[in-house]
Amino acid sequence: MKKKKLSINDFMKMKKEGSKIAWLTSYDFPTAQFAETAGMDMILVGDSLGMCVYGYDGTVPVTMDQCIMHCEAVRRAAPNTFVVGDMPLGSYQVSDPEAVKNAIRFLKEANVDAIKLEGGTRVVSRIKAIVDAGVLVIGHIGLTPQSSGQLGGHKAQGRTADAAQMVIEDALAVEKAGAHMLLVEAVPPEVTAYIASKLKIPVLSIGAGAECDGQLLIVSDLIGQFTAFTPKFVKKYANVAEIITEAMRCYVADVKEGNFPEDEHCYHMLAGEAEKLQTIIKDKK
Ligand code: KIV
Repeated sequence: MKKKKLSINDFMKMKKEGSKIAWLTSYDFPTAQFAETAGMDMILVGDSLGMCVYGYDGTVPVTMDQCIMHCEAVRRAAPNTFVVGDMPLGSYQVSDPEAVKNAIRFLKEANVDAIKLEGGTRVVSRIKAIVDAGVLVIGHIGLTPQSSGQLGGHKAQGRTADAAQMVIEDALAVEKAGAHMLLVEAVPPEVTAYIASKLKIPVLSIGAGAECDGQLLIVSDLIGQFTAFTPKFVKKYANVAEIITEAMRCYVADVKEGNFPEDEHCYHMLAGEAEKLQTIIKDKK
């Protein structure tokens, strides 16, 4: 049966009813197809693609064009899943009009359902401007990887009462600016639980505990494909790095030892054609 694509109204209803939203990143056609088949509610084409696909140290070098290209592939693979495009560093920091222009690019060129941007009180005017342009916006607070330099690295946020208060102020500001959902990253569960209870919009967590409206994980962590490091909050459901490397090791050995290809992997000549070829070759001698 064809999967029904969920809308923002469905996500609001899920929050009210207490049914959890499952959200996963994807960057390419095959994993997005798997995500849709697995029944994912939402897909994020995150700028984490910088690390997971391109091998950068972080998300800072990622460009709008890269994000759009990956969103296009994901949209083709998952036509019935709510897809979120992630605005990369530089695409929304300069001015409201530039933020609106880039947000609209995601919709026009990649047909995504919403965009996500990082920041709380400091991006209020950007959120308002993008929402006013008719685009669904997901806020992202707590650990915001694009500004990890200012945060002193990829560190959990809101672990003291004062720091928690700042995260809560960010959450309230994002909702007041008109955002449609909020992602909270690497924040203590009790802070996230408070935010989820205060906000009317769905609040999702990545490394921010269970007491909220849904969870996000990075696909490359979940399937065990990204091997550089594993954050504390990740649950690995598979180890494809091991499976893929072992398959490739076997292929190398088979080629070296002459065990591949076998007869079943060859295209044989059509009936009677091999004899005809022999005659041609003989005549040529
Ligand atoms: O780019 C991404 O995948 C993200 C997550 C780290 C939240 O923004």
